[in-house]
Amino acid sequence: MVKKYIVAGNWKLYIERAEEAKKIAAVLKRKVKLFPGVDMVLFPPAPLLPAVAQVLGKTSVALGAQTISVFSGGAHTGDVSGAVVKDLGASWVLVGHSERRAAGETNDMVCAQVRAAKNAGLHVMLCVGEKEKDHGGAHFSDIALQLSSALNGFSNPPAGGRTRIAIAYEPVWAIGKTAAEAMQPGELEEMVIFIRKTLTDILDRTAALRVPILYGGSVDGSNARQLLREGGVSGFLVGRASTDIDAFTEILNVCKK
Ligand code: PGA
Repeated sequence: MVKKYIVAGNWKLYIERAEEAKKIAAVLKRKVKLFPGVDMVLFPPAPLLPAVAQVLGKTSVALGAQTISVFSGGAHTGDVSGAVVKDLGASWVLVGHSERRAAGETNDMVCAQVRAAKNAGLHVMLCVGEKEKDHGGAHFSDIALQLSSALNGFSNPPAGGRTRIAIAYEPVWAIGKTAAEAMQPGELEEMVIFIRKTLTDILDRTAALRVPILYGGSVDGSNARQLLREGGVSGFLVGRASTDIDAFTEILNVCKK
């Protein structure tokens, strides 16, 4: 099987207007065929999903929500459920992004969101990452805990199941910086092996081997190639650079077949 890479754009709140969102989506729609072997996923702010979905139409570019409520239906003012974002065109959801964790999301809440996503039939891009750079290695146990608690009770469906899971490893200290401050490929490779091993302890082995492990944290066109080749990842979750067409295109080019 030919390996496909995932390149995901997390627009965070960088994009706040439908016009701007539509402009980026229209360019990517035109260019998507230039990146064979890449599964592109865009994560706009939830209210902009319909505008982006409309522009993308039937292209292969997938859409996702940046978070969902742990609830489904009922008296939860302000919450946006998996069913809502699915109806707006999302097929993926980011769960456990460090900016959500910093706003108070606990490992238990992340686990509840994974379940809510599964119930809504959304694919999960589960974000994990340590806060501090730790040369003593203690961060490995943080990552193991984040993975095991988020996937607690998650019986990964067999191939063809409705919910796919991808891991986005994003060390918090590397997010929103410059390419020079991103993780080094050698360290990344070590972490990818650790995450894979941890997944085989949590999930069915075959399922664990299939899970794409992405990297996020100050990826741009200047470091993507080395991170991909030497880091052993299956693609990237890109923040700031995903809102700049030229920078995002450079990353997509690195990942194409
Ligand atoms: P960054 O963000 O690419 O701007 O560092 C990555 C992320 O937070 O997903």
